[in-house]
Amino acid sequence: MNKPKKTNPEKRSIPVLFTAHEIKERVEALATEIAGKVGHEFLIVSLLRGSFMFTADLVRELYAISVHPQIDFMTLSSYGSSTQSSGNVQIGRDLTDDVKGKTVLILDDILETGRTLTYARDLLKDRGAKEIKIAVLLEKPGKLEADIKADFVGFSIPDKFVVGYGLDYANHYRELPFIGYLDVH
Ligand code: IMP
Ligand code: MG
Repeated sequence: MNKPKKTNPEKRSIPVLFTAHEIKERVEALATEIAGKVGHEFLIVSLLRGSFMFTADLVRELYAISVHPQIDFMTLSSYGSSTQSSGNVQIGRDLTDDVKGKTVLILDDILETGRTLTYARDLLKDRGAKEIKIAVLLEKPGKLEADIKADFVGFSIPDKFVVGYGLDYANHYRELPFIGYLDVH
């Protein structure tokens, strides 16, 4: 059987912002920060679809330092397929677990205007979460509009439209193992 040929990521001609190796090192450090500040008993609420890769890698780094969170997923969307946030956040798929009385760590791929995370935080607060912390892989400080701050941030980035490592443009590029950027506005 012929093995599928591995494509060189650079051949997609997407400029690289963070390599897979840089991401791995940062996610490993984030796991240590989280273990130190959130403790060992918490529920991860991973916001899909953008944070699936971040979540998968982060929980394995947590495992490596003997932290064993519960994990649940919620699909939120505000983007459609454009590169401009609509600001209108909607739940696609809701959580399975009850967050009442729990320490929750919300994971998202990127904090941009902050509307998505504000919506998620307020929703979980309304549902009775005991404590809510937020970890994002990326933040674009130049675009923040809402009154929200992440407790843990992988990388602060300039105002570029980024793709890869879970982040999409019209649901493409999520599979890239690195983070690159597109020249769109
Ligand atoms: P916010 O609600 O404006 O903070 O946007 C957050 C959501 O928009 C993220 O969870 C992403 O799904 C998406 N998003 C924001 N910036 C980018 C980007 O540069 N590339 C891909 N998706 C983005
Ligand atoms: Mg998205």
